[in-house]
Amino acid sequence: MFDPSRLHPAARYYSGAAVSAANLKFGQPVHETHPHILTAGELTPGITAQEYANRRAALASSMTEGGVAVLHAASLRFKSGAVFHPYRQESNFFWLTGWNEDDAVAVIEKTGPNWDDYTFRMFVKRKDPKDEQWNGYRNGIDAARDIFNADEAYSIDSMDSLLPEILQSAKLVFADVQSVPDCSKNFLRRFFSSKELIHPARTPLYPVINKLRVVKSAAEVANMRKAGQISGRAITEAMRHDWTKEKDLHAFLDYQFAVNGCDGPAYIPVIAGGDRANCIHYTVNNNTLKGDEFVLVDAGGEYGTYITDISRTWPISGKFTAAQRDLYEAVLKVQRTSVSLCRESARMSLEEIHGITARGLVDQLKSIGFNVSMNNIDQLFPHHVGHYIGLDVHDCPGYSRRETLKRGHCVTIEPGVYVPFDDQWPKHFQGMGIRIEDSICVDEDSPFTLTTEAVKEVDDIEALR
Ligand code: GLY
Ligand code: MN
Ligand code: MN
Repeated sequence: MFDPSRLHPAARYYSGAAVSAANLKFGQPVHETHPHILTAGELTPGITAQEYANRRAALASSMTEGGVAVLHAASLRFKSGAVFHPYRQESNFFWLTGWNEDDAVAVIEKTGPNWDDYTFRMFVKRKDPKDEQWNGYRNGIDAARDIFNADEAYSIDSMDSLLPEILQSAKLVFADVQSVPDCSKNFLRRFFSSKELIHPARTPLYPVINKLRVVKSAAEVANMRKAGQISGRAITEAMRHDWTKEKDLHAFLDYQFAVNGCDGPAYIPVIAGGDRANCIHYTVNNNTLKGDEFVLVDAGGEYGTYITDISRTWPISGKFTAAQRDLYEAVLKVQRTSVSLCRESARMSLEEIHGITARGLVDQLKSIGFNVSMNNIDQLFPHHVGHYIGLDVHDCPGYSRRETLKRGHCVTIEPGVYVPFDDQWPKHFQGMGIRIEDSICVDEDSPFTLTTEAVKEVDDIEALR
């Protein structure tokens, strides 16, 4: 159960005579060590300890008495040999705990009928000065309790004996199959790597958490707005320059995201000149850019692990040709209409907005000479109009796009038209690929565009040079 009196980050470290404040070392920023990143009360940027506690209470409320949710932290991934990728926590684990280390397990047990009748246990790496000298600082067991507000915290080494005990009295165990590292304990590995009935009543956790995660809090929306604003400004700034290489534009955006306050890029961007834009997941970004072509950029930063997802397409020369303008305006008109449907009062699902978008593109493309209908529009518009966004770029995987959008849902709207070199399409449009994508938060009567700083009107783009 959450006890607000525990919300005194690092207090016990200060009060202990043996450890001075200057010697505080944790595996991730906390307010006391990184006040430039976290304000008092925040566990991760923008998200308070109270909000994390509320999320655990909401999960507990979604379970019946005797329900136990078990989550494993993501493991560190290796690029090659001893070279590792930056650590990224598993999203559900992060959403419930704010804990940003590997080799950890979180257990939330519903203990009674009230919303706050639950126990939050964490199993984490103990502090180890020798290992920390080589591999970086760790949060440790005390921090799990005193900063991250676990009711009980233990070493991950005791997991093999303690988890079976906890599960013994469970009526229903919520857990997802997850890959856990070989070094992990035996019981854990068996528990997470198979659907084997390690407990007689086991059910997936992700559908329960998806329902909670898909509606964003004000603090989550603020994080996504911050990511959207910084990233949108970076993309608009990029439009002012004369780029000759995809690689340079890629590096510029990564740099702008980081120095203006994002954690870094949210995903490997698409920087596609000319007909390379017709490859939806073009991410090698290693070719040259020609003045008479478009460049399609799909790039966004993240803040506090909340992402933004933006696509813009502009002429490398800064000035649209007649054909570029016609095709671009067609996509933009449809994008604007589809964005306007992201409000609760429209009572639409992403799936329905997709249908309206496809019909809109058919109408617009016909008017500029395409022989296209609903039967073959997928040749030009092969992907969905959008997806949920949040901690993940494609957030809440498994959550249906047929759910009616409501306040707090955050989605992308990203129609695209990709014209191959195929004579069934007008010659002057062949080889052009255009996608216009904004990140949107659904509100009652209007969409809240999180990425409005990335300009998209033809006149605005041309005015930048
Ligand atoms: N940037 C990935 C996507 O648009 O879905
Ligand atoms: Mn997207
Ligand atoms: Mn995108």
